[in-house]
Amino acid sequence: MRVLAAYNIKGGTGKTATAVNLAYLSAYYGARTLVWDLDPQGAATFYFRMPERRGGGKRHIRGKQDLDSLIRGTDFEMLDLLRASFAYRNLDQTLAETRKPLERFAKLIRPLTKDYDYLIFDCPPGINLVSESIFFASEALLVPTIPTTLSVRCLDLLTEHLERNGPQSLRVLPFFSMVDLRKSLHKTICNAAPGKGVRFLKTRIPYASVVEQMGVRRAPVSVFAARSAVDYAYRALWDEIQIELDAPAATRAGQDLQRQTQAPGS
Ligand SMILES: Nc1ncnc2c1ncn2[C@@H]1O[C@H](COP(=O)(O)OP(=O)(O)OP(=O)(O)O)[C@@H](O)[C@H]1O
Ligand SMILES: [Mg+2]
Repeated sequence: MRVLAAYNIKGGTGKTATAVNLAYLSAYYGARTLVWDLDPQGAATFYFRMPERRGGGKRHIRGKQDLDSLIRGTDFEMLDLLRASFAYRNLDQTLAETRKPLERFAKLIRPLTKDYDYLIFDCPPGINLVSESIFFASEALLVPTIPTTLSVRCLDLLTEHLERNGPQSLRVLPFFSMVDLRKSLHKTICNAAPGKGVRFLKTRIPYASVVEQMGVRRAPVSVFAARSAVDYAYRALWDEIQIELDAPAATRAGQDLQRQTQAPGS
């Protein structure tokens, strides 16, 4: 099972759109896929037309309730969901009360390994114990980044943090999201290839109202706007992510923080 997390320290960058649209495509192409909505806002849960769970934010995190019993099928074949709970607003504290919180999520998802090809976490914004635990459970972070100064700064904060404290095996795969090339700032930042120690994926997700329509249609874009520019962009992104994950370390984009942050000439 490959474990990916749609993650950004910054809010509102397209994490949930990424998790929902890529998970749909993963399942569409035949992979058994699970989305775990970790955000008390429950946006991914909403997009999949499910109610949030009531309470129950603690028992399964503490390992006292099987995750299996919480997983539901979505309207789409091969695609399951572990719904958000508003109780996840206290997830950080719940995790702090467990033994070895950093290893908690890795341990929790271990029994799912045989059941799924992909697990995609939809993470809330911010950086706390929950994020740290997700870093240790994941193979890669998918980091949608709006081409603005503050978004790129958040990515730099993340990569600097991971360089010092992150698990070595974690890949960081940033890509530009909500790109509007009519804006000169977007154009400048996209062309500048920013980011300390990471390289952006080539695929960019354009700014498009069909993504906002997901809230009305309550479905992934590929379901109601097939062959739109955003549908093609998410398909290209999913292809690129899989190529990146399969690539040998030496040819990888995204992470290789150690290698890329060596002093020039070293
Ligand atoms: N490519 C896009 N084009 C236009 N609007 C977009 C795009 N991607 C996301 N949006 C819109 O931007 C808003 C934020 O997107 P989304 O919820 O995916 O971000 P998020 O990072 O998950 O936010 P949060 O940090 O609150 O969880 C939503 O209203 C969504 O519809
Ligand atoms: Mg979200």
